[in-house]
Amino acid sequence: MTQTSSFHDHILILDFGSQVTQLIARRVRESGVYCEIWPFNNADIDKIKAFNPKGIILSGGPCSVLDDGSPRAPEGVFSLGLPLLGICYGQQTMVQQLGGTVEGSDHKEFGRAYVDILADSPLLAGSKWNKGTQEQVWMSHGDRVTALPDGFEIIGKSEGAPYAMIANEAKKFYAVQFHPEVVHTPHGADLYRNFTHTICGCSGDWTMAAFRAEEIRKIRAQVGSGKVICGLSGGVDSSVTAVLLHEAIGDQLTCIYVDTGLMRAGESEQVVSLFREHYNIPLIHEDASALFLGQLDGVTDPEAKRKTIGRLFIEVFDKCAGEIGDAQFLAQGTLYPDVIESVSFTGGPSATIKSHHNVGGLPERMNLKLVEPLRELFKDEVRALGRELGMPEDFIRRHPFPGPGLAIRIPGEITREKIEILRKADTIYLEEIRNAGLYDAIWQAFAVLLPVKTVGVMGDDRTYDHVCALRAVTSTDGMTADYYPYPHDFLGRVATRIINEVRGINRVVYDITSKPPGTIEWE
Ligand code: XMP
Repeated sequence: MTQTSSFHDHILILDFGSQVTQLIARRVRESGVYCEIWPFNNADIDKIKAFNPKGIILSGGPCSVLDDGSPRAPEGVFSLGLPLLGICYGQQTMVQQLGGTVEGSDHKEFGRAYVDILADSPLLAGSKWNKGTQEQVWMSHGDRVTALPDGFEIIGKSEGAPYAMIANEAKKFYAVQFHPEVVHTPHGADLYRNFTHTICGCSGDWTMAAFRAEEIRKIRAQVGSGKVICGLSGGVDSSVTAVLLHEAIGDQLTCIYVDTGLMRAGESEQVVSLFREHYNIPLIHEDASALFLGQLDGVTDPEAKRKTIGRLFIEVFDKCAGEIGDAQFLAQGTLYPDVIESVSFTGGPSATIKSHHNVGGLPERMNLKLVEPLRELFKDEVRALGRELGMPEDFIRRHPFPGPGLAIRIPGEITREKIEILRKADTIYLEEIRNAGLYDAIWQAFAVLLPVKTVGVMGDDRTYDHVCALRAVTSTDGMTADYYPYPHDFLGRVATRIINEVRGINRVVYDITSKPPGTIEWE
């Protein structure tokens, strides 16, 4: 579980299962401080001491401290002499474990609330949170603290939470009922910065420049004079992995780009020219489109498409890797959210390690050791690292693109002709999004070619062509999403261009489904 970063001050976040624990980690890291998230029930005191944090944050969580068997912080954390910050459930368990009282309440607070700041505190120093003023916060609680443990004082109260912010200044224990990590607490980041810097004394030296230098040292130490292979997908994570590795070990790295024939227009050419010509990284570009499209012939079930593509990818990748000979390492762009252990209330901590799409199983099969230099990073930190490495901005800011590519954006049967039609529509759509300056406000945008034909008129002719659906969503992690509320004139412009310029499409519709209940992709 413990990653590294021994050079830096650390903060430990004990997770009680909140949906937004990762946002706590984001806020801490934005303050320039390295942190890790550990499940509350997989963190004994010896392990915590060995990690040597400068402070501990107790996260929110879905349970009630009033329920039998509900989670508790390991008792020892209160006597480590370290600063603590409890958030929501973290506040309640801190209070209860230290001898205060938590009760159920008829006055539940969900959503926006206002906290009256009643006292000064190092938690608020130099921030917008001033004594005598009111701050907007985000609440989400049924239970509330009704009596404080010895040594605690109130810093702030809200209508539904008389102890919305509390502190034992002597011990440096702080706790809040609300969620300072979410955007609906507009100045919440100030509290995290004060906790990590002013209260815990962290120096704030977790920067991408420092990460880059350290990671390069680590990669060299791990790899020695060995050979490394790295699969490029065209996405940000694998690209940043490859550029970082190349900086560390030069031509001991060979990249493999498997062209499935299912990429968007011009994408394969871009990847090849960026890596081969711009970065001068040894690259095997395997055009396997005939194999993929041949094997996908007649396959219509979405999962069967994924399985076919995954299987072929491994076969082709394996063959290319064999051509390099005697490689000992496989580099992957695994990110921190993929390796955080999640809290499960139904049988202890459960590992939610996702297999990296397409290359799952490869390391074992090829007897390769993994190199995963991005394991400690969140997605936006990977982008910051890409910038630090001087990678082109439009590459870094790319929307996510699924491993199976356009195959899952053509519901039903896939043909070369349909792929070509979809590529043209998708190119126009993304061009208009960029022209309108909307690209960065959207998490993912793409066209889908539906297996439905409808009647239209063009000039004096009747047409009978495909329907194209446009999708655009906002999201923070792809787990939930909202459709993007385009102005009508934008949608009209895109529809007109697609219908006029793409032969084979005579109708365009816009998908306004959120996730859940929908998914982002159509298959
Ligand atoms: P859904 O459609 O499940 O998508 O809401 C969530 C995110 O995952 C991407 N996605 C995939 N990525 N292989 C991938 O590498 C896949 O099979 C796959 N299916 C969906 C999707 O583009 C979105 O970002």
